[in-house]
Amino acid sequence: MSGRMTLKTLGNSDIKISPIGLGCMGLSEFYGQPISEKQGCELILHALDQGVNFFDTADMYGGGHNEKLLAKALNTRREEAVIATKFGIVRENGEYARTISGKPEYVRKSCHESLRRLETDYIDLYYIHRVDKNTPIEETISEMSRLMEEGKIRAIGISEASAETIRRAHAVHPLSALQSEYSMLTRDPETEILDLTNGLGISFVPYSPICRGLLSNWKPSEDKSDFRNMLPRFQGEAYDSNKTIADSLARIAEDKGCTLAQLSLAWVCAQGENIVPIPGTTKIKNLDSNIEATQVNLSNDDLTAIETILTANTVQGNRYTDEGMKGVNI
Ligand code: ATR
Repeated sequence: MSGRMTLKTLGNSDIKISPIGLGCMGLSEFYGQPISEKQGCELILHALDQGVNFFDTADMYGGGHNEKLLAKALNTRREEAVIATKFGIVRENGEYARTISGKPEYVRKSCHESLRRLETDYIDLYYIHRVDKNTPIEETISEMSRLMEEGKIRAIGISEASAETIRRAHAVHPLSALQSEYSMLTRDPETEILDLTNGLGISFVPYSPICRGLLSNWKPSEDKSDFRNMLPRFQGEAYDSNKTIADSLARIAEDKGCTLAQLSLAWVCAQGENIVPIPGTTKIKNLDSNIEATQVNLSNDDLTAIETILTANTVQGNRYTDEGMKGVNI
């Protein structure tokens, strides 16, 4: 499979990434009880063997567990990987409550801690996980720029930022990636952000491109360790209504001979050359299927059929809780 994937350049950097990455968050927490570390390492190495080199983590996933897992898996193969990690969400381990910090001294401290957990001398792509309203973005980016001069990070990214913040940040130091939620059921970036990132040469990295499993076969449950069970769009009637949209889309996938998850990935990729999704999975079978999705081509007729369904149906419920929504588009 690896031979069929043409590498892309990550934003305004010289880093080469596979056209699809691996979101590692669910290997540590948020999506129910995680798989074992051994299975997590096997999955990461399988991705690498298949040509997926773009690994997404964050300091706060599992309170550092996710970065350590990546270090353990990559071990002697670190040079083959492009590691993207993030700072800025400050939370007590296991708690959802959080504060945000983009203060220069916090940036530097976080970077050093991530380097230690990742057992590496450099982070390929360092993201601001959420924008700190109380620290001018210029101050945060300036410190990241210094980390870059020191060779500690190779590229700068930002997540869930507004167009204005992206412009201001990019003016201080060219950004290489914007990571925000984007899928057939979460189309917020289409109003302004997709064109903006494309115009500035910034890679757009959609997280939750399968809408956290709504565009596959995940179903809500009573499991408190799965934070999707708290999200508005997975509640009761909202979920039932959203599932109907997913079912309609699944029929298009069936006609094309692919799965709905694959259709979802092909759809985000079709929205721009600079788009590199990072679906999360805990299963080798699904990882292989996601890699195959890079070979699914959507015709204009396919895209029109999808658009007809999406414009005829409004997704019910926000993608985050009210508290979570306060942290996006800043
Ligand atoms: P996130 O970026 O937040 O991880 P996502 O990529 O939109 O979210 O969706 C992740 C969900 O899709 C997970 O529930 C994952 O389940 P598994 O861990 O069981 O794979 C599911 N998922 C990912 N790839 C899939 C595939 N090819 N087929 C079916 N489900 C898939």
